Amino acid sequence: MRLIAANWKMNKTVSETEEYLRRFLEILKPYEDREVLICPPFTSLYVASRVLSGTGVRLGAQNCHYERKGAFTGEVSLPMLKEIGCSYVIVGHSERRHIFGETDELVNRKIIACLEEGVRPILCVGEKIEDREAGMTFKVVETQIRIAFSGVEGMTDRVDIAYEPVWAIGTGVPASPEDAVEVHRFIREVLREINPRAEGKTRILYGGSVNPENAPEFMKHGEIEGLLVGTASLDPESFAKIVDSF
Ligand code: 13P
Repeated sequence: MRLIAANWKMNKTVSETEEYLRRFLEILKPYEDREVLICPPFTSLYVASRVLSGTGVRLGAQNCHYERKGAFTGEVSLPMLKEIGCSYVIVGHSERRHIFGETDELVNRKIIACLEEGVRPILCVGEKIEDREAGMTFKVVETQIRIAFSGVEGMTDRVDIAYEPVWAIGTGVPASPEDAVEVHRFIREVLREINPRAEGKTRILYGGSVNPENAPEFMKHGEIEGLLVGTASLDPESFAKIVDSF
C-alpha cells in the first residue's frame, strides 16, 4: 500500500493544527488502497491524535531520541510518542542532518530504537547538490542506508525509506521523476543486498518540492511507493489533492 506523508516541519500551533485537520478530514476521500500520514510538530501531536482518532489517518513524529527516558534535555522518547498514538517517526531528515549535525551513526541508533519500540521509521536519505555534480549520488545514498541498518540488517522490512535529494527540498525544483526512479531502483538493489529475504517490503518514497501539479507524474511510476511532502502539505486542500493524485 502506498504511503502519502505530510512533514509539517516547524509549522502550526495547536489551534492551527486542529483547524487544519478538521478541514482535511472534511475533504479527504475514503481510501482503502493508500495510507495517509501526518507528522506535525511535537506540541501538536496530542491534539492531532485526538482529532485523527478513528479516522484511519496515521500520526507520526518528525524526530525521536534513542533512549527510552533520562537526562536528555529537550528530547522526546519513543515511549512518549507511542502513548500519544504515533505509529511512525521520521528519522534522519536532511534538516536534522545538515542543520543539527545528525550523523549516520546517530541515525542508526534511532533506527534501532524505533525497531525495538515497534514504531515504524521513515529513514530519510539523499545527496547534496555537490554530491550529485560529483557523480556521488549512489555512493552517498548507499552509505547512509548501510550505516542506518548496521546491526539490524534483518529488519529492513520494518522501515520505509524516503529519498529526498537535499537540493530539491524547499527549493521548488523537484528531481525529475526519471531521476527519482533511477535512485529508487538503486535503493531497492542496496536493500536486496542487505536483506535478500525482505525483498519489496520496504516502501521507497520520494520527497522534495512535491506539489499537487507534479505529484501525479511521480505516482505514475511503480517504483515510487509514496511521497513525503513538506511545504505543499501545509494547506489541507493542497495535501488532499496530493493524496488523491493517483
Ligand atoms: P518540501 O516539500 O517543502 O520540498 O520539503 C520536502 C521535505 O523535506 C519533506 O520531508
